[in-house]
Amino acid sequence: MSSSSTPSNTTATAQIGVTGLAVMGSNIARNFARHGYTVAVHNRSIAKTDALLAEHGSEGTFVRSETIAEFLDALEKPRRVLIMVKAGAPTDAVIDELAEAMEPGDIIIDGGNSLYTDTIRREKAIRERGLHFVGAGISGGEEGALNGPSIMPGGPAESYKSLGPLLEEISAHVDGVPCCTHIGPDGSGHFVKMVHNGIEYSDMQLIGEAYQLLRDGLGKSAPEIADVFAEWNTGDLDSYLVEITAEVLRQTDAKTGKPLVDVIVDEAEQKGTGRWTVKSALDLGVPVTGIAEAVFARALSGSVPQRKATVGLASGELGTAPTDAAQFTEDVRQALYASKIVAYAQGFNQIQAGSAEYDWNVTPGDLATIWRGGCIIRAKFLNRIKDAFEADPGLPTLLAAPYFRSAVEAAIDSWRRVVSTATALGIPIPGFSSALSYYDALRTERLPAALTQGLRDYFGAHTYERTDAEPGQKFHTLWSGDRSEVQA
Ligand code: 6PG
Repeated sequence: MSSSSTPSNTTATAQIGVTGLAVMGSNIARNFARHGYTVAVHNRSIAKTDALLAEHGSEGTFVRSETIAEFLDALEKPRRVLIMVKAGAPTDAVIDELAEAMEPGDIIIDGGNSLYTDTIRREKAIRERGLHFVGAGISGGEEGALNGPSIMPGGPAESYKSLGPLLEEISAHVDGVPCCTHIGPDGSGHFVKMVHNGIEYSDMQLIGEAYQLLRDGLGKSAPEIADVFAEWNTGDLDSYLVEITAEVLRQTDAKTGKPLVDVIVDEAEQKGTGRWTVKSALDLGVPVTGIAEAVFARALSGSVPQRKATVGLASGELGTAPTDAAQFTEDVRQALYASKIVAYAQGFNQIQAGSAEYDWNVTPGDLATIWRGGCIIRAKFLNRIKDAFEADPGLPTLLAAPYFRSAVEAAIDSWRRVVSTATALGIPIPGFSSALSYYDALRTERLPAALTQGLRDYFGAHTYERTDAEPGQKFHTLWSGDRSEVQA
């Protein structure tokens, strides 16, 4: 591979341009270059571009560009420009600058964590100018960006024809299949990335609860729990997040000699994608209870005044710690697996609902396929999700698919024991318990919603449907009259 930076104002030689060279942008640019593509690189301050070229210029062929004009001149037509800048106003500013100077047929790709409604708006505006706009969710963090992320590009199918092969090449591969596929029109790529992040939040919350149960329920140390997670990672729970949980728990703090996790402040931050997932789920009416609990658990951890004001509040009489540590550990593993299945079931329901709402035609099985590698939620059991949707593309919930139905059946007794033990010990487990309640609610034949309807009709004449009448037929009881029923 010929090396390093070509001077500016050459003829167009680059197949792809990357603007925004913070860690993710630099690593994606290097990934393209390592795959033999000539990559035009641009950053608002040239210092970052030069730092990238100084450190990694020998990894492939880069074209250094100081201005957007130089950057665009360096690109073969139709131009493909990947924007890797902060979501929100900075992304809009770069899009505007590029769109001014680009030509019909050129493609702008937003690889940041943009809000999907922004992507819908931008795609429309860019399309009206004769250009293509691709909102691409990219997952995998710094390491994934360099060595193979999972890529979720939305936007016009036509632009995928020219862009897809490049993205597929630099993405992670599982069993020879790229972790990248065209998701659907306009905001679909960023929508599914948003839900991916929501599931990521839920996964991490459940892992955190499992850790706390082993720590406070069994009195295990961080390195001991690291061993448990490492063991779990060899079975059904095999996943990136479980693998790195073992790594983080095993880390010793150089300063104190304690486990690092014991010296990290217990207040979780968030950039917002989990919150967006829940907001969107509320609008779509999809119960993503696991994701919501995870977002609220982060908010609770950061509710410092409330936490300070409640130190020492009564716990009531607590139960005794489990006596069979091995059994309890296995119960926690099963509860984690079952709760995780619920989180994915909910996330996929949100994707189905979003796809229907916006007419995106997203194929859930394709998503499961491209999440098997590269992304943060990559896990062995995504193969099972892929199989489930391939067997039944209209699957109403993963919980009804034969494999998951049996997996939860095998876990259910453990799951209930964990929830009741945690409650008896006063250990908060919002993720485990809400997932179990969701599961129980789904399988309950008669929900108390009938009473809710009765109450709504009583105070607001909101009407109800009857179990013995045609669906859609509405009835009202004359509550303040003779209490007879009328058809509404
Ligand atoms: C990924 C990650 C990545 C990042 C999120 C989460 O898929 O590579 O999801 O996008 O880790 O921004 O960040 P917060 O936890 O701060 O919301």
